Amino acid sequence: MVRLADPCLVVLVGASGAGKSTWAIEQFGRWRVVATDDLRAVVGLAEHDQRASKDAFDLQERIADARLRRGFTTVLDSTGLERARRRRWVDLARRRGVPVHAVVFDVDAKVVRARNRDRQRSVPADVLRAQLRSLPAAVGSLTDEGFDAIWSPGDVELVPPRFLDAPTAAIRQREMPMPLSFGLQIGRFAWPGGAAELAPRLAELARAAEDAGFDSIWLMDHLLQIPQIGREWEDLPESWTTLGYLAAVTRTARLGTLVTNVGLRNPAHLAKIVATLDALSGGRAWCGLGAGWFEREHELYGYGADHLDTRFARLEDALRLLPLLWGKGSPPFEGRTISTPAATCYPRPLQERIPILVGGGGEERTLRLVAEHADGTNLFGEPADVAAKLAVLARHCDAIGRDPASITVTHFGEAAVLSAGAERAVDGSEGHAATVEEHVGRFRAFAEAGVTHAIVALPADGTPAAVRAFAPVVRAFATS
Ligand code: CTP
Ligand code: MG
Repeated sequence: MVRLADPCLVVLVGASGAGKSTWAIEQFGRWRVVATDDLRAVVGLAEHDQRASKDAFDLQERIADARLRRGFTTVLDSTGLERARRRRWVDLARRRGVPVHAVVFDVDAKVVRARNRDRQRSVPADVLRAQLRSLPAAVGSLTDEGFDAIWSPGDVELVPPRFLDAPTAAIRQREMPMPLSFGLQIGRFAWPGGAAELAPRLAELARAAEDAGFDSIWLMDHLLQIPQIGREWEDLPESWTTLGYLAAVTRTARLGTLVTNVGLRNPAHLAKIVATLDALSGGRAWCGLGAGWFEREHELYGYGADHLDTRFARLEDALRLLPLLWGKGSPPFEGRTISTPAATCYPRPLQERIPILVGGGGEERTLRLVAEHADGTNLFGEPADVAAKLAVLARHCDAIGRDPASITVTHFGEAAVLSAGAERAVDGSEGHAATVEEHVGRFRAFAEAGVTHAIVALPADGTPAAVRAFAPVVRAFATS
């Protein structure tokens, strides 16, 4: 089984009757195969109408370009024997930023001739002979035409690029395990039964997460559902209130927001809320913080639309003030957006220091604030993106003499476990669905990039079943 990144461009090379179309349709599905034969029948008289060839090739290229632009894997089905055309196709793939593969059908000439004879309309013998004769030269030339790989026809699996290298990474995890703990983010509550069933469904989900080995549970801090996830009139319970409920129905999971918008509450009030959650949960609070971005909720709830500078000033104030409110004594605080003569908060939290995690990878401001004030960072993207952000974070740490290892590195992303035998996500989807094994490999790569806590949003609105399906991934990183 050959794993190809989806999307990619696949170029078939072989004589008429070599079995190209048969293989391509079987492996990729009819809709991904763009055949000049078909296009001759569209713009000409029939598949064999050679007068329509030029138009057919032009169309083939335009269709391939339009498909690749949309992220759809495309198979170019023609004999592929002309070097000039192959050049154009490699350029096309480069332009669209997708890998390009050649598949060579080096079938015995006798077989090809026999198949050709059996066809309703045979290719003229001299044409076929010329094709067969030109194949070795074409094959020889392929290697320096810029193809990412050259294959023989066999079984193919299309794989979202993020999972392409997962199998080897999964082997590394099996042979020399690295630790990685997991968090579950619950971002959507559009469940059957509505508000009346919110409490029991949430409790069931949270308990399923603990049973599956998740170390933490996270909610977004938004006043409206965000457009990336759902409709603005969907149920979205208030975050810290809901965490208070989760504190009562869970036993071990850490609880936090990913992340609190510092623009929604006076930071001193926020400190009070978080300290209360920490006390009620037996010391399980995490405090995620961010500058806020969702203008619509600010508008609908009567908060002003603050300039980014103001939002960052407030974030920095919160980062400095919260630990004062949680710590010993009642020191005065003078910030840029808030001041108090005495930072006072009773009850004090149970944790000596409630960990503060700052969301986002902004290199100038956000990561500098992490280095200066936070206990953790929350990053997005692929392992390489995380590694790049951590390099920036390390530079900010260097500048102030902080050990980067003292910062907890969390990552947030979607994940969906494919049930055995299920079709992978359709073309153009985000491509987060994969087998348990592939997820293990991908999270291994995150661990290698420096992530210590992986927070995932699961599909199907995070049903208990989706949580249980992810449990084997969590277990693969459990040390001891
Ligand atoms: N065929 C076969 N066994 C295979 C592959 C193909 O018997 N393993 C038969 C097909 O049923 C068809 C003929 O061989 O009748 C040619 O196969 P096709 O896939 O159409 O070959 P292509 O390479 O696509 O030929 P062309 O360039 O003419 O489109
Ligand atoms: Mg064909």
